[in-house]
Amino acid sequence: MTDVRPAVTVDGPAEAGVLDTLFHSDLGGHEQVVLCQDRPTGLKAVIAIHSTALGPALGGTRFHAYADAADPAEAALRDALNLARGMSYKNALAGLPHGGGKAVIIGDPERLKTEELLLAYGRCVAALGGRYITACDVGTYVRDMDVVARTCQWTTGRSPEQGGAGDSSVLTAFGVFQGMRACAEHLWGSPALDGRTVGVAGVGKVGHLLVGHLVEAGARVVITDVREQAVREVLDAHPGAPVRAVADTDALLATEGLDIYSPCALGGALDDATVSRLTARVVCGAANNQLAHPGVEKDLADRGVLYAPDYLVNSGGVVQVADELNGFDFARAKAKVEKIFDTTLEIFDRAQTEGVPPAVAADRVAEHRMAQAAGR
Ligand SMILES: NC(=O)c1ccc[n+]([C@@H]2O[C@H](COP(=O)([O-])OP(=O)(O)OC[C@H]3O[C@@H](n4cnc5c(N)ncnc54)[C@H](O)[C@@H]3O)[C@@H](O)[C@H]2O)c1
Repeated sequence: MTDVRPAVTVDGPAEAGVLDTLFHSDLGGHEQVVLCQDRPTGLKAVIAIHSTALGPALGGTRFHAYADAADPAEAALRDALNLARGMSYKNALAGLPHGGGKAVIIGDPERLKTEELLLAYGRCVAALGGRYITACDVGTYVRDMDVVARTCQWTTGRSPEQGGAGDSSVLTAFGVFQGMRACAEHLWGSPALDGRTVGVAGVGKVGHLLVGHLVEAGARVVITDVREQAVREVLDAHPGAPVRAVADTDALLATEGLDIYSPCALGGALDDATVSRLTARVVCGAANNQLAHPGVEKDLADRGVLYAPDYLVNSGGVVQVADELNGFDFARAKAKVEKIFDTTLEIFDRAQTEGVPPAVAADRVAEHRMAQAAGR
């Protein structure tokens, strides 16, 4: 394997200062970063626009405290920069007419989130005049976007009652399933998943629905989740189907005959320890930022594991909220998400031809699309 780029991550405090990264490093290059404050409501937010080459930046709003960080504001800024950059790549690969952006509201949503704060946040996004379109992310929900939309016309991911598309996990799960079928096609010569054993780590909104697709396709499914209730709900939803639960991700990875590992919980699922004991030939899941550090994509490729880059296969949700901007049509959005199958196959073929891991091939395609649109 040659020419492995560093992963898309602006790293921790030991590295250069975050402003240095922004202005001088390859991982910066963002078009615009805005700090917002509204003292009466306690709003402190960062809005990062990485690129508008393909169209207005689109990406969700994370509401998080960063309580473990030495400097929560700096941690939030780094997160916003990384997430916005990731959205540029995700949107480009999904063929959307959108650039990448993301916002972070700093604070514990349980304590801080109020209607007034969300309305103030909407005014901040609106002040950008449509360069950034916001939606849900960790810590924000469809009902929050309904509130934000009252002060900001550039809001999507709203409830069906407000003309929105509702929960994005429906099409995210469908897209990951399409990515998995493409993995099977590339590796085993058929997209069929019947008889395959798939391990799903994290059966929340997306994982739960993914299990449904897998059962329907005739796969054997092994699940795990730190929430007992989430596991119970999945088992109850599929009585008599070949779905079983194991205690944790370690047990899931050790499942005999595991064909596909699907991380659907948090980021960083693919670290050195996990990769070294992976027996599954395929990794394809919904979780964002699965690679724990740069180089993991190469280790996976060297071990003969086919890794479907997360931002390639989990774009169903953003396709859904982008569709909402034109008046949501479920069938139209689903047809677009179905294309993840073809795109994933194209990326695998390109990776093979160029002798690079799929993550590198995916980055190149996204970068080419952005450069072309920017006339560079
Ligand atoms: N919802 C979407 O439309 C969407 C779109 C793109 C990407 N994603 C990503 O997909 C992932 C799942 O999203 P979601 O909406 O289903 O979130 P969710 O919070 O509903 O589900 C995540 C589940 O993972 C479980 N979990 C947490 N830590 C775990 C661990 N160590 N081991 C096993 N289970 C663990 C949680 O209990 C929860 O049930 C996230 O990384 C998210 O960023 C989601």
